[in-house]
Amino acid sequence: MHSNLLGKMASKIWGMLLVIFAAFSWMVYAHCDDNNKEGSPDQQIIAGWNTWQTKNCQSCHQLYGLGGYMGPDLTNVCSDKNKGKSYLKVFIMNGTGRMPNFHLSDKETDDVISFLSWVDKSGESKISADKVHWSGTYELEKHTK
Ligand code: HEC
Repeated sequence: MHSNLLGKMASKIWGMLLVIFAAFSWMVYAHCDDNNKEGSPDQQIIAGWNTWQTKNCQSCHQLYGLGGYMGPDLTNVCSDKNKGKSYLKVFIMNGTGRMPNFHLSDKETDDVISFLSWVDKSGESKISADKVHWSGTYELEKHTK
């Protein structure tokens, strides 16, 4: 009688644990989807990514602080309120004295911009241009205790 009761409780507890496990697993997967709402890159983004690589933009520009240091970090350039897509387009298609003109076509330029805006949506690069030293190193915020 006594051990029968214990047996019933044990199976209830297992049942509850199973429900909690299932609910938690669902939450974890649902949450992952949430974080990844940009999803996989589409054709235009991939084309832009190819141009980014073949023209070696990264030799002078950083994404998330990684890359060359002649030009600025472009991780969040698309969401910069003072810039916008037409600014980027003019900049990329013409170059400046310091940034070369790669003679990209209209489409290639749009592709690169869509790649950069995809990168932009993936997060924030905390490294601002004024923190970058000419040697290519940079200083993160100092942690004060
Ligand atoms: C030889 C080095 C070099 C390469 C390679 C290069 N850039 Fe640049 N880029 C620069 C420099 C330097 C600047 C800043 C220009 C200035 O202020 O005159 C710049 C600026 C920019 C800006 C404007 C950024 C801002 O915040 O105003 C964009 C956008 C940009 N580059 C995109 C690209 C893309 C896309 C490529 C590849 C197709 C590329 N760059 C390749 C050197 C380079």
